[in-house]
Amino acid sequence: PEPGPLKGRHILVTSGPTREPIDPVRYIANHSSGKQGHAIAAAAAAAGARVTLVSGPVRLDDPDGVDVVHIETAREMLAACEAALPADAAVFAAAVADWRVARDAGQKIKKTGDGPPALALVENPDILATISRSISRPPLVIGFAAETEHVLDHAKAKLKRKGCDLIVANDVSPESGVMGGERNRVHLVSAAGVESWPDLSKDEVARRLVARIAAQLGEGA
Ligand code: PMT
Repeated sequence: PEPGPLKGRHILVTSGPTREPIDPVRYIANHSSGKQGHAIAAAAAAAGARVTLVSGPVRLDDPDGVDVVHIETAREMLAACEAALPADAAVFAAAVADWRVARDAGQKIKKTGDGPPALALVENPDILATISRSISRPPLVIGFAAETEHVLDHAKAKLKRKGCDLIVANDVSPESGVMGGERNRVHLVSAAGVESWPDLSKDEVARRLVARIAAQLGEGA
């Protein structure tokens, strides 16, 4: 077979939700299925790359030919991403929990007569922003933006705030069916402007994004 366009490249991908413990039996998470992130990892492997996929808990099989690191929390995801560097490109498709419970109760929290417990939250590390600004920053860093309103405005703000080269913005309001579903409609937001793709299967979004990565790395990104 022809050598793929990403032969000799190492691509890091994150996928799925993270799961932040409240106590030994409860957690905070979200509806990400990992379908979009796993499809990107599979497409990059099909294009000949060595792929490291750092995944939160999902029901999907590990994609063929991909090194998968299974993690649960945002802090574990950050550590696994840092351990995977250097990479030629990184794609952050995971739906990372922005907050975790400040103090993980060692034992199951019991109902008391005093009403429900108050959960104090603290911010999780921002993996995309941390790696975008690290000394081992991959030459091409791609983030996602999951929004339920003002999709493009919020995505443009994230492009700047997180220091990445490209944001893939998608509408995750429940009516869109994107989280957990098979299809996605994305907008590519970069310094060059906005490029909107039609409604596509997540596999097709992944193939097109991988073609874009190969083109940008070929130009010396
Ligand atoms: O998994 P699926 O069911 O297929 O759904 C796909 C998806 C909707 C989860 C995916 O397409 C998507 O949008 N992923 C990003 C989800 C998200 O958390 O977006 P955000 O706008 O909250 O975060 C912006 C970016 O920062 C993302 O690249 C995210 O991975 C990253 N981030 C966020 C918080 C944090 N603590 N660390 C991060 O790295």
